[in-house]
Amino acid sequence: MTVPEPETAELSEEALEFGRWLFAQRCDFLKGVVSLDGLPEGEGVELAFAGRSNVGKSSLVNALTGRKTLARTSAMPGRTRELNFFRLGAEDGPHLTMVDLPGYGYARASRSLAKTWTSLMRGYLKGRASLRRVVLLVDARHGLKDSDREIMKMMDETAVSYQVVLTKGDKLTRAEQDKIVGKLQGEVARHVAAHPDLILTSAVKGIGIEELRARLAVLVQE
Ligand code: GTP
Ligand code: MG
Repeated sequence: MTVPEPETAELSEEALEFGRWLFAQRCDFLKGVVSLDGLPEGEGVELAFAGRSNVGKSSLVNALTGRKTLARTSAMPGRTRELNFFRLGAEDGPHLTMVDLPGYGYARASRSLAKTWTSLMRGYLKGRASLRRVVLLVDARHGLKDSDREIMKMMDETAVSYQVVLTKGDKLTRAEQDKIVGKLQGEVARHVAAHPDLILTSAVKGIGIEELRARLAVLVQE
């Protein structure tokens, strides 16, 4: 089966270069936030990484910035319990804020804890003026789950621009990768606030990381 290429513009060499450059800049942990009243003031371009628990959000932040331990990762779901704010870029140069969010859909977390994280994440996503794009991570092996669809619906309704990124692509064969991308493209395209690009990544093998850097860096230039 041949999967049609997504109908999006090819990345130029300049865009790839700027992506590489930006994500090689300094990156500093700014703040971990446990409640909405602790949110730092929004400044410049903000990107948030959302998705089910254990999907690989923190790993992707590390892969993009080329730093292994910037965001804490764990094989146990529910590692990230705060909204973790990072600033990428020098004081006086192009920069962006990246937010590593706690995961949702973690069945074994106690119900009250899961509720706290989920309402924190939702409250942030709904009311953040500086939020330019949400990178919505989906496990390439599993595709979209109902919990993902709920968040997508909420972002469609509140006009929060988001982009679906598949993770753990290294766990699939090339044919399986093409199959899941083809399968999800149609569904993603039906969501009004979703960006049409569907990028398959692997934080472990570095698949799709260059492309994602370039696609995100463009937001700083716009
Ligand atoms: P929470 O903070 O709990 O919501 O999880 P998270 O989405 O931040 O996931 P995290 O980055 O902590 O990764 C979860 C597990 O998946 C870890 O064991 C990672 O090593 C593993 N993982 C993350 N990305 C990849 C990937 O691209 N490939 C493979 N094979 N494993 C990955
Ligand atoms: Mg995490």
